[in-house]
Amino acid sequence: KINPVILSGGSGTRLWPLSREHYPKQLLCLLGEQTLLQQTVSRLDGAGNVAAPLLVCNEEHRFLIAEQLRQMGKPPADIILEPIGRNTAPALTLAALALLKHSPDDALMLVMPADHVIQHTAKFHDAVKEGAALAEKGRLVTFGIVPGGPETGYGYIKRGKGNDVEAFVEKPDAGTAAQYVASGEYLWNSGMFLMLASAWLEELNRFHPAMLETCKAAYDGGKRDADFYRVDRQAFGSCQSNSIDYAVMEETERAAVVALDAGWSDIGAWSSLWDASAHDAEGNVVQGDVYMHATRNALLISQHRFVAAVGLDDIIVVETPDAVLVAHKNHAQDVKEVVNRLKSDK
Ligand code: GDD
Ligand code: MG
Repeated sequence: KINPVILSGGSGTRLWPLSREHYPKQLLCLLGEQTLLQQTVSRLDGAGNVAAPLLVCNEEHRFLIAEQLRQMGKPPADIILEPIGRNTAPALTLAALALLKHSPDDALMLVMPADHVIQHTAKFHDAVKEGAALAEKGRLVTFGIVPGGPETGYGYIKRGKGNDVEAFVEKPDAGTAAQYVASGEYLWNSGMFLMLASAWLEELNRFHPAMLETCKAAYDGGKRDADFYRVDRQAFGSCQSNSIDYAVMEETERAAVVALDAGWSDIGAWSSLWDASAHDAEGNVVQGDVYMHATRNALLISQHRFVAAVGLDDIIVVETPDAVLVAHKNHAQDVKEVVNRLKSDK
């Protein structure tokens, strides 16, 4: 049986001004009728023997998340609340500890970020089945994507024989990423993983034993609060912040990779939302009350007021009641600088 572990702790700063700290991108309907979180849960329908999802999120988002699951009639196995974000390695550790509490023999975890898009669900299910066989043997399974370009925001997986991983490099610099892509030997790490809870805890214990101890203290000191499980604030606050990728995947010898060719995209920036959306004949992606003239390959979202664009190519405009973003598509990654600035002004 597969236990989905959904990580929903990020705040999506590059998708400002729609994505906000109090209302992050995974809880928004960016593509279609469902939010990205709801699409993540729906993606599991038909995947085989799958348990109810376990969610790990910041306590601030607990009611929004519980409500989104209730709306779709998918009660979670549990919702674990972090008082403060410590990145993905501690979040996954809490999930592993929770699952082992309920099934001490072991538990297969399918780790899913809450903010991805996958167009071909059936292909995703096939990859999960292939990965499950490897994970059952104690491997830490990654899902590898053929790189679309030398992006520096991803992990890179060098393939070995069969499903073996020769190297895992998280977020290389631009030159290294370009080399990797040119070599044809690397895949992007999708950020989804499949592994036994015991395998994760063993590897974490090898490379970061203090993190494991701190997470155990935070979990054991936690309290149930209605539908939520709130971990101990003080213990978790003292935990080192680190990601699954840096903390374990770069170090472990038990990594495996399954190729995933299923229209995967992490909606990290406005340009990737543009990529993943249906375009009109001029290449424009439009939501809301918008008028365009001589405008191509633009992303225009209006929530509140009429927006008109004239003679613009490759532009992003996102209009909300209290903020408007105007950006060039080539600078979509820099939108986080706006959020950094707003935070430092606070
Ligand atoms: N519960 C919880 N707590 N979730 C978190 C936390 C946290 O502190 N921090 C991040 N998350 C969630 C995010 O919401 C997201 O769904 C997922 O974990 C991954 O975190 P990101 O911060 O988005 O990671 P990334 O995009 O920089 O890198 C990862 O994903 C890439 C693919 O999208 C890595 O796995 C890369 O190797 C990978 O290529
Ligand atoms: Mg991400």
